[in-house]
Amino acid sequence: MVRPGLVPTLSGDLVDYANLDHAASTPAFEGVARAVEAATRSYSSVHRGTGWLSRVTSAHYEAAREEVARFVGARPDDVVVFTRNTTDAVNLLARCLPRDTSVVVFASEHHAALLPWAPRDTVRLPVPGSVRDAEVLLEAALAALPAGTARRPREALVVLTAASNVTGEIWPVDRLTSIARRHGARVLLDGAQYAAHRTVDLGALDVDWVVFSGHKVHAPFGTGVLAGRQDWLDAAPPYLAGGGATAAVTEGGTRWVSGPARHEAGSPNVLGAVALAAACATIREHRSAIEEHEARLTARLLDGLRAIDGVTTYSLFGSSHDRGPVVTFTVDGLDSHLVAAALSAEHGIGVRAGKFCAHLVVDALLDDGSDDGVQHSTAVRASAGLATTEEHVERLLAAVAVLAAEGPGADYVDTPEQGWLPVDDTRELDVPLPW
Ligand SMILES: Cc1ncc(COP(=O)(O)O)c(C=O)c1O
Repeated sequence: MVRPGLVPTLSGDLVDYANLDHAASTPAFEGVARAVEAATRSYSSVHRGTGWLSRVTSAHYEAAREEVARFVGARPDDVVVFTRNTTDAVNLLARCLPRDTSVVVFASEHHAALLPWAPRDTVRLPVPGSVRDAEVLLEAALAALPAGTARRPREALVVLTAASNVTGEIWPVDRLTSIARRHGARVLLDGAQYAAHRTVDLGALDVDWVVFSGHKVHAPFGTGVLAGRQDWLDAAPPYLAGGGATAAVTEGGTRWVSGPARHEAGSPNVLGAVALAAACATIREHRSAIEEHEARLTARLLDGLRAIDGVTTYSLFGSSHDRGPVVTFTVDGLDSHLVAAALSAEHGIGVRAGKFCAHLVVDALLDDGSDDGVQHSTAVRASAGLATTEEHVERLLAAVAVLAAEGPGADYVDTPEQGWLPVDDTRELDVPLPW
């Protein structure tokens, strides 16, 4: 379903690229490319054209919306708004909050879900140390919110991640949502790290909105989704003002449409929506095989890394907590960026190093993690997925074991512009352009 690729290593070999960076972006399915190619053949204007191909293109766009609605288990009155990515989708909802809505968010959120809220109305909860801790923190925060009046009830929104992009852990959404409900709060679920791995079901999870990105569910960059309740979205001014969002424009003023089009002004990314829908349909069809493949890789990755002397893995909720295929670790005495650079240059393995746009949770986790006397400020994240094979995981484990025992197998220099680079690197980044 996903094309393999060969990459050069320092030794001059070409090796199968070990993709352990799925939490950042997932390679597009071959079927997604085919769907986009097919839609391109009838490509015409969308929505307001009367020509036959305009009708075809418009039908593709609206069918893509329906496919995404099925993918997230949308309720009959939910809407699906196409956005650019998860960040865009959260920012859209943030602009639609009724006045004075209180937002409660854990510091462990990805910056996309942590930062878009007005500081004045936001209660930021500490990074929880256990599931119980998360429950207690949320309960206390919601109980302490100021009450509204009968004429103007005060709204509250709880922002939760479905799966952490740092530890991969699946958050106890049902338990936290039931606390939110008891306090009359609504829930936004950040599904960016969840949608490719587990079923999102708005109704079953009892959340009001979910957001996710196409590039994390095997569709290309540039398309994301905000799906859920329509009422706050319809009551707010459009996210972008412009054509497509208007019902009537006169010298006297503008009336905006309701529904998804209200927040999708301008010509939409039809091919992006088609690509996303194709990816969603593929994932839905193969869901149980995907979960099985990833569960196997996750177990091996986690057990294998934990067994290496000098490697520390991190978790919020305890080492046996359910998690997706993401493991964050540090290697005693080695800068995480150097570890990532050596894995790439010497072994053809792609991972991430840094704080993963989730600085507060990485800072909290590393604070009491490694015991090598060197305070790590960043970590390495290995994230498996459909383009990861068992050989990739074994290669990573073997490479990390050697790194932890002996350090890198080549000399590296820390450069101001590009971080750690091999000193003697004869590889040319000679990339044939795709066009
Ligand atoms: C949990 C989580 N939320 C939000 C985002 C932001 O996604 P995007 O960059 O596609 O907007 C990411 C991206 O890594 C993520 O992992």
